[in-house]
Amino acid sequence: LIEKQKDVSKPWGGRFAAATDAEVERFTASEHFDRRLARFDIQGSIAHARMLATVGVLSEGERDAIVEGLRAIAAEIEAGEFPWSPALEDVHMNIERRLTERIGEPGKKLHTARSRNDQVATDMRLFLRDAIDAARAGVAALESALVEVAEREADTVMPGFTHLQTAQPVTFGHHVLAWVEMLERDRDRLADCRRRTDVMPLGSAALAGTSFAIDREHTREALGFPALSRNSLDAVSDRDFAIEFCAAASILMVHLSRMCEELILWMSERFRFIDIDDAFCTGSSIMPQKKNPDVAELVRGKSARVIGHLTAMLVLMKGQPLAYNRDNQEDKEPLFDTVDTVLDSLRVLTAMWPGVRVNRKVLREAARGGFATATDLAEYLVRRGVPFRDAHEAVGRAVALAQERGVDLADLPLEDLRAFCSLIEPGVYEVLTLEGSLAARDHVGGTAPTRVRAEVSRMRALLEREAQG
Ligand code: ARG
Repeated sequence: LIEKQKDVSKPWGGRFAAATDAEVERFTASEHFDRRLARFDIQGSIAHARMLATVGVLSEGERDAIVEGLRAIAAEIEAGEFPWSPALEDVHMNIERRLTERIGEPGKKLHTARSRNDQVATDMRLFLRDAIDAARAGVAALESALVEVAEREADTVMPGFTHLQTAQPVTFGHHVLAWVEMLERDRDRLADCRRRTDVMPLGSAALAGTSFAIDREHTREALGFPALSRNSLDAVSDRDFAIEFCAAASILMVHLSRMCEELILWMSERFRFIDIDDAFCTGSSIMPQKKNPDVAELVRGKSARVIGHLTAMLVLMKGQPLAYNRDNQEDKEPLFDTVDTVLDSLRVLTAMWPGVRVNRKVLREAARGGFATATDLAEYLVRRGVPFRDAHEAVGRAVALAQERGVDLADLPLEDLRAFCSLIEPGVYEVLTLEGSLAARDHVGGTAPTRVRAEVSRMRALLEREAQG
């Protein structure tokens, strides 16, 4: 009777007297989402089987049968013909069971000297390594699109803001290159995270290593990992690399969100700095006049879920004793969604930028308002020997007068300006122009059009160099 209740469909059936509760089977299964790791799981299994043959655990015939069987399974999965079963829990057991179905006895030997614990850790690292490469390429593509805009708008004057109040004139190109700087740091962070992702845990088995004389160097080489994990307990339990990716992705999404926030503001009727192509906007179902920057709003919105995933990953790990715990199965959905959201957001923004029209006239008008060249006037006085604090005070009073008359600083006659400081001469009007203000900021990191062009060339060369590998 007991034999009858035994569930031989489970790999652990030997130890168990009763079949798994149906609700538990549904609750514990992960194949519906971790099947995304299949390609990497098969890659790892092929490397493992080949290694087992070199150390004499498998015969060459068994190895060949396994490799061929796994390749056939990869094709089956690719074609959407693989019989996925939640009863077999996850991607690992689905593939292993299918292998035995296809090739018989040798299939049962594949799991020698490994565990699903080092297997899943290896799959995750192989998956993330690819995803990081894709994310870095996606960031580079967006940077390239922005560099084009920066070059086109190197001379375009606009108001720069602090506290969202008009501060000083800047070039539109300089503003765009600020985003490129943020994105460069993101690319760098991703590269750094990739370095720690690129470590091979396979060979750690369940937690303590294996009694077989495995050759980890052989598998490491085959899977292209530059380093081996050095502690089996840590190797099966560590998910730092996934947390780091979510952290780098969160910062990246915060950058994209900030950029989108500006695009949304700038497209508003109150600003009218830019217009976004119809193809990247949507309308309202009730208000016929509406054209909304939904793509930018959604990227801003999606940054929330990526930040949420980072929190989920951190909390997932914080209470776990060494070594592997089933909690770790919960690392996949947040990680996968982070990858998808980041790649999607980068793609849509890269496609959108060429369709962003810059309203140069409105930007110039906006830069003229708000006394954006007041600091230039103060600096003019300093160059004539006035201490900066006194210059600040004198210009402040000039601004008050201009405001009272409803004119710009450049519109005040010379005698009125001289009333605030007798050192002011006719040449002052050159520093009060927007072009004069911009051209004067000609140092590394400055907004002068010549500097913007120099940075455009530098970034273009850097991106091209990296694209060529
Ligand atoms: N599906 C599991 C995961 O994603 C694979 C490892 C399961 N290991 C175990 N001992 N139950 O983490």
